[in-house]
Amino acid sequence: MKLWGGRFEKATDGLVDDFHSSISFDQRLFEQDITGSIAHATMLGEQGIIPAGDAEKIVEGLKGILRDAREGKIAWRMDAEDIHMNVETLLTERIGEAGKRLHTGRSRNDQVALDTRMYAKAACRETEAMLEELLETLLDTAQQHLHTIMPGYTHLQKAQPITLAHHLMAYVQMFLRDRNRFRQAFRAADVMVLGSGALAGTTYPLNRERVAELLDFSVISENSLDGVADRDYMLDYLAAASICMMHLSRFCEELILWNTNEFRFVEMDDAFATGSSIMPQKKNPDVAELIRGKTGRVFGHLMGLLTVMKGLPLAYNKDMQEDKEAFFDARDTLVKGLTVFTAMLKTVTFRRDVMERGASGGFTNATDCADYLVKKGVPFRDAHRVVGELVAHCLNEKKALLDLTLEELKQFHSAFEADVFDDLSMIACVEKRRIPGAPAPDMVQLAIDSAREKLKQ
Ligand code: ARG
Repeated sequence: MKLWGGRFEKATDGLVDDFHSSISFDQRLFEQDITGSIAHATMLGEQGIIPAGDAEKIVEGLKGILRDAREGKIAWRMDAEDIHMNVETLLTERIGEAGKRLHTGRSRNDQVALDTRMYAKAACRETEAMLEELLETLLDTAQQHLHTIMPGYTHLQKAQPITLAHHLMAYVQMFLRDRNRFRQAFRAADVMVLGSGALAGTTYPLNRERVAELLDFSVISENSLDGVADRDYMLDYLAAASICMMHLSRFCEELILWNTNEFRFVEMDDAFATGSSIMPQKKNPDVAELIRGKTGRVFGHLMGLLTVMKGLPLAYNKDMQEDKEAFFDARDTLVKGLTVFTAMLKTVTFRRDVMERGASGGFTNATDCADYLVKKGVPFRDAHRVVGELVAHCLNEKKALLDLTLEELKQFHSAFEADVFDDLSMIACVEKRRIPGAPAPDMVQLAIDSAREKLKQ
């Protein structure tokens, strides 16, 4: 018989049992569920809401179940609906009558919210740690490439020379922001909701602060309806996960592009590439592609849960059971993505020579050429036109700006002098960009130092 079977005259249809049961996926919450119950029972005993002896038996019984569950010794019962009823049923089987007092002053509605909040908090902390490892890897790599010149792009067209370190540091900024987003998601989840009951609190004198203290929550919720109806903390996690996956997918796309025969900026390690069953020459960047592809799943889960929550009347509705598979899959996808991405990044070889050669093609110093004329007193708009004409001339002659002689340059503007050649070298173009946030090596060094400081906080 069901734990809630008292008012029913018929057993549930088999189809319904199968349809509404969540134990197949919420068993992953056993740790949180049992830990939450231990705190609840401890508080019930301390408050004299249940006899102290029963509270002790419950706590001991739950600890035993937790041990067995950790060792994989428990076969969760599919007919017991969800993790909450599984644990309670098992407890009563093991310790008898006292077990029936565990659910005093509690509902599965506040229980499931508590469990998922605990799970979300752990997921946020875990993600932060993974982001920190990725950030360390990026910072170490950037440090080695302060002087590795590469072309910077807009519209995927060569634009201006930058350094690989500067490019990598752009991702450092993104992942630092991601870490902040997971910290915010943690704070959203860090609210203790037991005591909300089914929706309207409870008549028992629960000590909610005590439960919060036992379970390491910072605050207690302030409205019982919101306590059971809120899933913002999951949406915050999913939103943070989506943005983080979006960043990973952009990075993956660049590695895929840079790994092509056309670019050849990077060489993927054999251990992180795969072959083709038909084309013997192939070495494909499947890992990067798969991370890029899995980004779609995480976005989907964010949209999915937003849609589940949209228009739901207060307070709890069974629709909300749909939160868990979305949340778990998003978390698993993100964790796997971050793990394999960081491991892959550690093995990528950056080809300095190819990158530097790539930087000098495509007139990446054209802006600097205009800036040179400005330095000699020419207004920027005129300088822009002169260099445009120079570029058109070079395209006709199949030359780069620096291939022209001083005499040729002077035909376009008399302000050109011999110092122009040093001024337009790739190294000079990068080194002259020395304001905060720009790619000159000493500025990037400052950015690296500042990011390392932030990482410590
Ligand atoms: N398995 C349910 C869920 O995941 C637990 C809460 C059930 N509450 C209820 N009133 N049916 O949401």
